[in-house]
Amino acid sequence: MKIKLGINVDHVATLRQARGTDYPDPVVAALLAEAAGSDSVVIHLREDRRHIRERDVLLIREAINIPLNLEMATSKDIVDFALDLCPDQATLVPEKRQELTTEGGLDLIKTYKKTSQAVKKLKKAGSKVSLFIDPFKNQVKAACDLGADNIEFNTARYVEAKTAKQLQTEFKRLKETSLLATKKGFFVAAGHGLDYENTKKILKIKEIKELNIGHSIISRSIFIGIVAAIEEMIDLIKDKK
Ligand code: PXP
Repeated sequence: MKIKLGINVDHVATLRQARGTDYPDPVVAALLAEAAGSDSVVIHLREDRRHIRERDVLLIREAINIPLNLEMATSKDIVDFALDLCPDQATLVPEKRQELTTEGGLDLIKTYKKTSQAVKKLKKAGSKVSLFIDPFKNQVKAACDLGADNIEFNTARYVEAKTAKQLQTEFKRLKETSLLATKKGFFVAAGHGLDYENTKKILKIKEIKELNIGHSIISRSIFIGIVAAIEEMIDLIKDKK
């Protein structure tokens, strides 16, 4: 089965918000991602609205013909917004206002009750629910108890490994938890900090069926254009055995 690629276009909105202009437009980026062959568009409506705004979400939802994966925290206003929108997939992520980007996966054990309520509501409204977690077995087991549809493993520990030994440890951790998640019946995705180099090794984990990538591809777009940058990543992952 071909591995899927979801493109995160938050970073286009970050550039727009840096100047308070109305360009570059993440809606255009989402349309170009679809044209380039992406399998889904990923956006994160953060509580502080620092990049993607409600209007962007609504317009992207209208504009694209590929699935919309909305990353979101479990706070009431965001959950209410998602229930109205009913994205194809809601990915629950932790959120701290001070962080530069999502740091760490959602701790399903600490947040069990709140996460459970959000999962139930979103599933009832018709969205698939994915949980963005660190690759630990106890988190996979909790995701199972919560009745989520999908798991997205946070690849931060892998991409930030400083030594070859650390890299090997983190790769092994991802591999083992992906296997466990697959055995439990989950569709397994991975993302965070993946680029044109560190993605290659991830492709060896055959249980990972989808990659969600933003920063490296949008950064490369500055030099070669977004369509070419996405096509390069698709070429890189399509040879996965
Ligand atoms: N998946 C999730 C759940 C994320 O929070 C992010 C970052 O927004 C990504 C994937 C994409 O990460 P990056 O922009 O580092 O490629």
